[in-house]
Amino acid sequence: MSAPSVVRASATATADAALIAGWCDELAAVTEEPGRITRVYLSPEHARVNAIVAGWMRDAGLSTWQDAAGNLHGRVDGATPDAPVLLLGSHLDTVVDAGRYDGIVGVLMAIRTVARVTADGPLPVALEVIAFSDEEGTRFGKALLGSSAVAGVWDESWWDLTDGDGVTLRDAFTRFGLDPSRVHEAAVEPSVLAGYLEAHIEQGPYLEQAGQALGVVTSIASARRFTVEAVGEARHAGGTPYDRRHDALLAAAEAALAVERICRASQHVGTVGTMTVEPGAVNVVPGLARFSVDLRGEFDEGRDAVWEEITKAFALIGERRGVSVEPTEVHRAPAVFCAPRLMDAVRAGIESTGEPRPIELFSRAGHDAMSLGLVTDVAMLFLRNPDGISHHPDEFVSTEDIALGLDALAVAVGRVAAA
Ligand code: GLV
Ligand code: MN
Ligand code: MN
Repeated sequence: MSAPSVVRASATATADAALIAGWCDELAAVTEEPGRITRVYLSPEHARVNAIVAGWMRDAGLSTWQDAAGNLHGRVDGATPDAPVLLLGSHLDTVVDAGRYDGIVGVLMAIRTVARVTADGPLPVALEVIAFSDEEGTRFGKALLGSSAVAGVWDESWWDLTDGDGVTLRDAFTRFGLDPSRVHEAAVEPSVLAGYLEAHIEQGPYLEQAGQALGVVTSIASARRFTVEAVGEARHAGGTPYDRRHDALLAAAEAALAVERICRASQHVGTVGTMTVEPGAVNVVPGLARFSVDLRGEFDEGRDAVWEEITKAFALIGERRGVSVEPTEVHRAPAVFCAPRLMDAVRAGIESTGEPRPIELFSRAGHDAMSLGLVTDVAMLFLRNPDGISHHPDEFVSTEDIALGLDALAVAVGRVAAA
């Protein structure tokens, strides 16, 4: 490991970072499960954080509204009515038993950055912060729902997605007070955009290994997600000899190992993160196993080739065990490559903090920038994430690194505004 950087943040950023760290703690208490952070799309907790964060936006001088997909927006107009719009943001939803910084810190940094850079008056660009409502896909399996609405790429087939209780996305919209038929109103007009900047914790160990607080993202991994149903036959656990069994759980277990083997051999990452078994009795051979597959790679073509290999392996396993193994795709997002002009702005921001050689990183995690990348130029600023642990309650980013990130983001926004 190289020596840690000795760069120092400004007094403004240091004060804002302390505020943001406190806000992250406050939002961590808005959860459906006391004692652990779980905050999903279109839930009462979603409404609650939107209300809290809208208050912080207004205190910072932003005008606020919630869009037709439940995303929260805050805006400061530009110097002229036709000023292009620079979007900033990240998400407020979480995985199950989450950390308190993933997404959240980027939203809060964006708010304080807008307040800071417009303190002396409007810029040649309008600044709009978006607190996206669903990045993780925790509730409906499909990720990036909030930012897909903003990017105008909503797919009508998503309305029938269901959550763990069988509630459809359409019904969840209505219960939240949103009108499904108006979701297209959340879409931005691409021609007015100057780009999208997102600050986010790294969710990996590379900045820490390099001894740097901040990094420039070059691209974001291509992703696909599936639910897979392995259907065998439920039978008596004592009476059924092995040669008569069609054990769905064992087929699923072999399938999960195949995902790991194939991904490891090809520089991809594949994860089986959920598995349920039916009928789920101690003395019954499992007749059905349902599991998820999350697949990531740097390029779409490589990701798709790996998935093809995985499906062939699933078919062989199924054939050998007399179990049908059927995947259904629930999410697909192409790799997104950050725009050189915005990466330059982020790099200049990091250099302004005293870091002479900002590190460049490929993001293996997904981000709202993936959706925005379909309609405008995007770039991301990564913050050091000790031990690279994320999607876990131990997830952390230091207040000092948030402060450095704030200084960098303010400079990056200034660069884009001046261009
Ligand atoms: C979001 O954090 C994802 O990469 O799944
Ligand atoms: Mn996440
Ligand atoms: Mn995130």
